[in-house]
Amino acid sequence: MKLENLKNKIVLVKGDITEYPADVIVNAANSSLMGGSGVDGAIHRKGGKEILEDCMKIRSSQGKCNVGEAVITRAGNMPFKNVIHTVGPVWQLGKNKEKKLFAEKLLKKAYISSLELAEKNKLKIISFPNISTGIYRFPKELAAKIAINAVIEYFEKSDFIEKVNFICFEDENFEIYQNILNEKGIM
Ligand code: APR
Repeated sequence: MKLENLKNKIVLVKGDITEYPADVIVNAANSSLMGGSGVDGAIHRKGGKEILEDCMKIRSSQGKCNVGEAVITRAGNMPFKNVIHTVGPVWQLGKNKEKKLFAEKLLKKAYISSLELAEKNKLKIISFPNISTGIYRFPKELAAKIAINAVIEYFEKSDFIEKVNFICFEDENFEIYQNILNEKGIM
């Protein structure tokens, strides 16, 4: 799909992922799926115990959610059809190039796994937070490039999903996404 055509499929939003309309929102979870702070905390708080119940069922049937993988639950009290929980990589400080490249691959996988799971569940509008850029300390610019390129790659293979909302909670991430999307002619 030409990048130009992605203008009406990719939306950039400054705000709270639990407040923006979508079929499904993506949670930046941890492998335990038992909740946390950041966007994980917000989603569990707003969604209520139904989400944790579903996560516990997933835990007992498949075990933990590996980094880069995604699972799906109900959305509880929130006005979405579902929540997709994915686990991003923790940024590896230090000089180890292989570790950094591996973390980049896992972050891309988290986006692709979530998009594929949304399509599998016939969910056409999906909202992403800026996965791994908070507590997991992934560099924001690099994470944004990985996220946007992963979505572009998905749209080259499938046009099932109608809209991907990138929800930026912080100004810094919003400006980074705005610059990259502008450079690519998608905004
Ligand atoms: N809506 C949208 N984005 C949000 C919200 C919200 N309500 N709250 C926080 N964010 C943003 C953060 O500002 C950050 O840009 O989500 C991005 C991801 O940050 P984290 O939530 O810290 O997620 P991550 O860096 O992937 O770390 C995951 O944090 O909460 C724990 O259980 C979680 O262990 C896991 C770790």
